[in-house]
Amino acid sequence: MVVSVLSQTRTRMSQPKIAPIETLPAILNRGLRIYPHEGTASDRPLKLSLIVPTYNERRNLHQLVDRLMQLLDRVVPNDYELIVVDDDSPDRTWELADILAETYPQLRSIRRCDERGLSTAVIRGWQASRGEILGVIDADLQHPPEVVTSLWLEIDRGADLAVASRHVEGGGVSDWSLARRFLSRGAQLLGLAILPGVVGRVSDPMSGFFMVRREAIAGKALDPVGYKILIEVLGRGDIRWIGEVGYVFQERNEGESKVTWKQYLEYLHHLLRLRVTLFPLARFLRFGMVGLSGVFVDMAVFYLLRDGLGWGLTRAAILSAEVAIFNNFLWNDRWTFADLSRRQRGWRKWFKRFLKFNFVCLAGLVLNVSIVNLLFNLLGANEYVAKLIAIALVTFWNFWVNLKLSWRVTDVSDG
Ligand code: GDD
Ligand code: MN
Repeated sequence: MVVSVLSQTRTRMSQPKIAPIETLPAILNRGLRIYPHEGTASDRPLKLSLIVPTYNERRNLHQLVDRLMQLLDRVVPNDYELIVVDDDSPDRTWELADILAETYPQLRSIRRCDERGLSTAVIRGWQASRGEILGVIDADLQHPPEVVTSLWLEIDRGADLAVASRHVEGGGVSDWSLARRFLSRGAQLLGLAILPGVVGRVSDPMSGFFMVRREAIAGKALDPVGYKILIEVLGRGDIRWIGEVGYVFQERNEGESKVTWKQYLEYLHHLLRLRVTLFPLARFLRFGMVGLSGVFVDMAVFYLLRDGLGWGLTRAAILSAEVAIFNNFLWNDRWTFADLSRRQRGWRKWFKRFLKFNFVCLAGLVLNVSIVNLLFNLLGANEYVAKLIAIALVTFWNFWVNLKLSWRVTDVSDG
């Protein structure tokens, strides 16, 4: 379901069905988008919109709403809204949300009748919201409502994203089984392996309890799968400052978790999809073109040294390779990674990048020869096929390690 919302607050309380606000062709506009809230007299912008995704939470919702309202009346008096997004729960949670909405003017409810899914429910709620700050909390009281105050304080201090974490001081889980602890940590390690630059930015990337500035994700095509909405926000949002507050994940008293193996498979799918979409393809193609130019430079210099100056084979091969590496470095520094080089001016930094580039390329050469030998001698592959596979793999190696090592911006300076 692809929806791009151009304006807000089209949801009404007790709306029996929420029609797609605007469904654009998937190819045109993949993903769900949140936009700045224009606001009108009847629906002025608010400071905070807190989304409560529900599926069969009828026995938890009233207590949660009561506790949240008391807290938010103190933290952001008359400047917040609570939006319950229910996926047509069989226990009719949406009906209770409607009844509560008649008691609490700050409460609104959305009932989705043809969609399911925690993360898309949250985004749907954000799309209908008016808040400058967007948040999410589970309905089952496993996220202690009181932590909302600490999250708000982090945002108030200037954080773009404030995450309730089980893995910082004051954090933890109640009496989770070893299997669940293992699964949760395992999922986190898998995320670190596939998306280190995203999952590694917070101590609890599995958290479903956080607040984020609307401007950090406004206009971004959010396209999550399954439960992990935070990873989508981290991967696609403009998030600079992240605050974390510790909380203890509580035991559920009523109802049961909806997590099944399907959510774990969706999590893997989500990671791989983000990995592909976040891969800097245009930069990689530039890097590949520079590498190709290096092949011509290498061959030309090798020819000049051998046939022009009669140099020995090894000396000619080494010098021509080094000239090609220098050629590639110049192009990469001025074109492929220009945006990163510009943030690290000065000869010393330039020369440091050149040395690192040399080191990575020479390591790539060793890798190249090793792969050719492995494929040809051990696996009996055709030598030219082996060579082509080696070139392809080493190109990825050279690109990724140079991006993360040689051109990584450590200390930004103009000097
Ligand atoms: N609208 C909607 N649609 N809500 C859903 C759906 C759905 O398909 N599935 C679950 N929810 C709601 C539940 O009603 C609850 O409010 C919240 O999402 C979390 O669902 P649980 O099934 O209780 O998840 P969990 O407790 O096993 O895991 C939670 O905690 C983890 C650690 O913070 C989730 O929040 C995970 O995302 C989180 O990683
Ligand atoms: Mn839960």
